[in-house]
Amino acid sequence: MTDQKKNDIAFDALLTEEREFPPSSSFTAKANISDDSIYEIARKDPEGYWASWAEQLDWETPWTKILEWDPPHAKWFVGGRLNASYNCLDRHLDKNGEKTAIIWEGEPGDTRRYTYRELHAEVSRFANGLKKLGVELGDRVAIYLPLIPEAVIAMLACARIGAVHSVVFGGFSAESLRDRIQDAEAKILITATSGYRRGNPVPLKKVGDAAVEECPSITNVVVVMRRAAAEEAEETINMHPGRDVWYHDVIRSAEEHCPPTWVDSEQMLYTLYTSGTTGKPKGIIHTTGGYLTGCYATTKWVFDLKPDDIFWCTADIGWVTGHSYVVYGPLANCATVLIYEGAPDWPKKDRMWELVEKYGVTIFYTAPTAIRAFMKWGHHLPDGHKLDSLRLLGSVGEPINPEAWIWYHKYIGGERCPIVDTWWQTETGAIMITPLPGIVATRPGSATRPFPGIEAEILNDAGERTPVGGGYLALTRPWPSMLRGIYRDPERYEAQYWSKWKGIYFTGDGAKRDENGYFWLLGRVDDVINVAGHRIGTMEVESALVDHQSVAEAAVVGISHEIKGTAIAAFVIIKESAREAAQKDPVAFENELKNHVATKIGAIARPEKILITADLPKTRSGKIMRRLLRDIAEGRRLGDVTTLADPTVVASLKERYEDEG
Ligand code: WT7
Repeated sequence: MTDQKKNDIAFDALLTEEREFPPSSSFTAKANISDDSIYEIARKDPEGYWASWAEQLDWETPWTKILEWDPPHAKWFVGGRLNASYNCLDRHLDKNGEKTAIIWEGEPGDTRRYTYRELHAEVSRFANGLKKLGVELGDRVAIYLPLIPEAVIAMLACARIGAVHSVVFGGFSAESLRDRIQDAEAKILITATSGYRRGNPVPLKKVGDAAVEECPSITNVVVVMRRAAAEEAEETINMHPGRDVWYHDVIRSAEEHCPPTWVDSEQMLYTLYTSGTTGKPKGIIHTTGGYLTGCYATTKWVFDLKPDDIFWCTADIGWVTGHSYVVYGPLANCATVLIYEGAPDWPKKDRMWELVEKYGVTIFYTAPTAIRAFMKWGHHLPDGHKLDSLRLLGSVGEPINPEAWIWYHKYIGGERCPIVDTWWQTETGAIMITPLPGIVATRPGSATRPFPGIEAEILNDAGERTPVGGGYLALTRPWPSMLRGIYRDPERYEAQYWSKWKGIYFTGDGAKRDENGYFWLLGRVDDVINVAGHRIGTMEVESALVDHQSVAEAAVVGISHEIKGTAIAAFVIIKESAREAAQKDPVAFENELKNHVATKIGAIARPEKILITADLPKTRSGKIMRRLLRDIAEGRRLGDVTTLADPTVVASLKERYEDEG
């Protein structure tokens, strides 16, 4: 950690939030967990505690050992065999076959509902269809779909036959999709003709086609017809004979009976790619028994899930939040989930509240970036809807600023709903630090305490514990839903997460702990930018920029942004040959670079600001001083420049961008 970053943490640690919101006695009286001795029980015997959760799943063969911990490699519920789709579907059929599993609404307003029985039937058919296409135990299947029921069906169909799904967010570019398919060596790509975003169809199949051109591992592409047949005749989509098959044909010709493939507890359930500090995204590996246990437990206690709840997690299934809290956690708990395909401001800025009212949503889980947007649009929008079905709110993805927290509490929660600010990561699989809503008094901006059975500490570089104060956030004990590795990169797994301290997981986040033992997250301490709750590696964006013919060198930093929390600013040294173009029409030139990044990675990585510079501030060892760049991009007074190789670089940069703030 640089000195600058240490100072950041010390500074932030001075800001204290005194407002406290204890759970109401009526909430606690009905809560799934209301006795705080559970923290101590779990601490004394974490393995026994986690085993009691795993026992609530259905196993074909019981495990013989709860945990095998050979740092940094963990095996949970060793020897046990189960199936994730069986746990999300089959086991509910006797009692809850007619219960609604999924309520879905498309952006244009089309709707569908699936009971558990219907979902089970469709998943079984598709699983058989995948088998017919040659998918076997352990094979990887890439899923590149809009947020439609088939996305959930495809995931569960893979799980049913022991195939590994690799969901790629529908907003990613052809190149990003290609890289992920190549890394996983996926056999099948499941995509759709298109999805909807703000009224416009997004041409997923076209992007998929471009990606697959360079993916020799792909034998078949399964295509879901998203738009009504009248609008989108089959012939307008270019189906490659011998490779492409329609999803509806696969379903139509498949049998409904598909016994689940029982897999080892440690069988890989999925891989999901996330950004790291180096250019290449890493495929985080999650396995079956432990992951499902973590999702099941946290859904039940953090969201206080009850049989008649309507649970709405707004995340796309392209992110881990969608995996754990749209699919596996809620369905393993036999919940009714709402899924909405589109944008929150389409056709109007009250779409979310319209949906809450229409479907009687009781639990609503979203990201601070969305809350800040709602705030900006004004509380008259939620005020115009009946939101009294809501009883619990959640937040995830980045620190929630107290102002947004209070707004959420007041205008969405009607001052009656507890807010659970949940800290976790793609790597942790399930929620790690969070209030238990019937027990823990919340403070705006704090994720409060580790979930029972999770041990978190604030450590310094030497691995010394800080009981009160700031430092690195570490997880000091293995947990069931922890990642098991990085796909095809065991060294990176060790180096990234387990090399800082022996046997202790390094989260990459800074945090502080207060006198109450509450955790306050302070953001990333590495070269990862959290944009609107999604991690983007600075290196990834830099590589995309340098890939442009006009760019010689680039340095990317995160700057604060009113809605996104953090946005991307890119300092760019352009080639001699591009000077003229850049000077003639700077706006067009900057847009071209921004678009280039969006095309290379996806719109989510599009820089907010491009700052053209003649040089970059570097330390004597050649490391770019991002902290200084951040100060310049945000128009702040400059921090310490004494370690700079050439201090004049900063002076001229600063002069150039002083007025732009
Ligand atoms: C990073 C993980 C886990 C689902 C969404 C993001 C940040 C996440 C919080 C929170 C403060 C948070 C951290 C973390 N983060 N939740 N409640 N408070 N920061 O998953 O893409 O794997 O990103 O998101 O920096 O390391 P992800």
